[in-house]
Amino acid sequence: MYEQISHTLLNDILNRIKPEISEQDLRHFYTRLGANFYGIHSLFQRLYGDRDDFDNQAQKLVETMAQQYIKRPEKLRQLDLEREKDYNWFLSQQWVGMALYCKGFADTLQGLQKRLHYFQELGINLVHVMPILRCPEGSSDGGYAVSDFREISPEVGTMEDVRKLADEMHKRDILLVLDVVVNHTSNKHDWATHARAGEQKYLDYYYTFENRNVPDMFEQSMPEIFPETAPGNFTWDEEMGRWVMTVFNDYQWDLNYSNPAVFIEMLDIILFWANQGADILRLDAVAFLWKKIGSTCQNEREAHLILQLLKDCCQVSAPGVVFIAEAIVAPVEMIKYFGEDAVIAKECEIAYNATFMALLWDAVATKNARLLNQGIKSLPVKLERATWLNYVRCHDDIGLGFDDRDILLCDYEPARHRRFLVDYFTGKFDHSHARGLPFGQNTKTGDTRISGSLASLVGLEHALESGDNQAIDDSIKLILLLHGMILSFGGIPLLYYGDELGTLNDDSYRDDPYKKGDTRWVHRPSIDWDKAERRNTPGTIEYEIFSALKRMIAVRKEIDVFADFNNRELLEVENPHLFVFGRYHLQKQSKHVLVVANFSDKPQHLNLEDLGIWGTQYRFPVDLYRGESPDIFKNSLVIPEFGFYWLCEQ
Ligand code: GLC
Ligand code: GLC
Repeated sequence: MYEQISHTLLNDILNRIKPEISEQDLRHFYTRLGANFYGIHSLFQRLYGDRDDFDNQAQKLVETMAQQYIKRPEKLRQLDLEREKDYNWFLSQQWVGMALYCKGFADTLQGLQKRLHYFQELGINLVHVMPILRCPEGSSDGGYAVSDFREISPEVGTMEDVRKLADEMHKRDILLVLDVVVNHTSNKHDWATHARAGEQKYLDYYYTFENRNVPDMFEQSMPEIFPETAPGNFTWDEEMGRWVMTVFNDYQWDLNYSNPAVFIEMLDIILFWANQGADILRLDAVAFLWKKIGSTCQNEREAHLILQLLKDCCQVSAPGVVFIAEAIVAPVEMIKYFGEDAVIAKECEIAYNATFMALLWDAVATKNARLLNQGIKSLPVKLERATWLNYVRCHDDIGLGFDDRDILLCDYEPARHRRFLVDYFTGKFDHSHARGLPFGQNTKTGDTRISGSLASLVGLEHALESGDNQAIDDSIKLILLLHGMILSFGGIPLLYYGDELGTLNDDSYRDDPYKKGDTRWVHRPSIDWDKAERRNTPGTIEYEIFSALKRMIAVRKEIDVFADFNNRELLEVENPHLFVFGRYHLQKQSKHVLVVANFSDKPQHLNLEDLGIWGTQYRFPVDLYRGESPDIFKNSLVIPEFGFYWLCEQ
């Protein structure tokens, strides 16, 4: 769009631009800047337009973008051009991800590089390496309390190791996902040190207060994220003699995005990581970016504007890089992190599908799919060119963040139903063999979340201890069923390291004084590579799970209707144990796939006639995952306990 005011400002900026920038060949940069500048300017103006130094800040913004473009390695610039042409590249069903801690998976970055073949063996081609940056010693929230955004933790390696890893991954067509912890820094970050020393410039990077007046006002409407270990949202800093806003842990200081200098710093860091070869950047805790008195300080309008601005700027300097929004919030809020419009108000291309994750766990506990069906029915349709990250487990807890209205529509009472789920997964409920642990228990609100490894949550740990083969089989079936869902739903499936081997809870965190208060560590394992070898020995649990997942992943990649073009139809059926949806092609006449999942511990049947047009297509169906025909009697499809099908007409 051409608009006079922003165009004039852009001309002024370009006239004043530093010679080291103006001397470069910036053809692609200028084309993209011209295309995006109206958006950039209006967002920057809305956020910071009332400041006297607005023009200077705008100048700095453009120079930051230009300088990072200049530093962008040639091969990444080429990749940008390729991805600009093939702009739907990240929607493909070819991508299958895994999230891991470098230390737990392979000790070091070099170790990780040596294990890349493991991903290829399983079919993983997108790897999220969780934070590897320098953190305070002791507690660091698993790396999410960053002390230096440009320095690798010496425990895992060096910057050179990251670049080599990225190179080697690219050679093998594996995408690298890295975090940018945009919402806060550790209290040991240089900025915090300067703030503590009383330097105004850096005090303005955070929210600090000399007394409790403003903090107390905020506290009236802000929830607590870690109520047990870090109650409240402010921490007294003795040295600074001020309160500082710390929404997460007391050593994680929230950044002040009402200061454009903070925005520019963080954009610079995002582009820096894009230039180190990250294909995808996971923007951590994005729901929290804007603080406003009287609100929960989550999902504020300005948080979205900040993300739109980050996206617009990144598209100018590194358009091949896409963002993942980590916003674990209510379903209606979650969807907004894709942006309001696919072109003029884009935010993140990818977002965590926390709703689907929590609903899947509901189906596991209740052994029926009522809430799962209801929750998916209520999930708003997302934007074009946006995709989910579908997952079963991740390094965080499971929050039961579905909508109360959906719970009510299933004739459950919300508080009681949530209590049941927590009891079920912490093994308190009769007949439950789950071994989860409570996380984030809040005595004021009654809220609780759940920690635990996938295998332990679906009963494998208990089954092994009791030597119950039937129960072992059932847990394996559940592990595969849940993966069968995230691999077919539409979006990028993200496996969690260790789950492909049936890794159980790891209690060793209890001996570490810095970890013992945080039960999430129970599901952040160190991979036992000797045990992992058993994936090659038929009859072992590792083999059963690994080989089944490997097959599932390979088959997924062959099914083009599994690419995510909002081409899914939820099919409501009478049998409450079943979750049924169809995947279809929007344009091509390619074969549709019917996904049928049974969350009950008994076989269930589905009358194909109930499926309308979808049912009539399946006269001689084949289950693509097993390569076999499913059992059908007359018009009833029989789905074994904890079983699923990916059905296609032969
Ligand atoms: C994100 C991370 C989580 C961390 C939090 C604070 O939600 O996934 O592990 O505790 O941000 O950084
Ligand atoms: C809350 C936050 C989420 C974070 C999690 C960590 O759910 O919304 O961002 O990952 O806490 O436990």
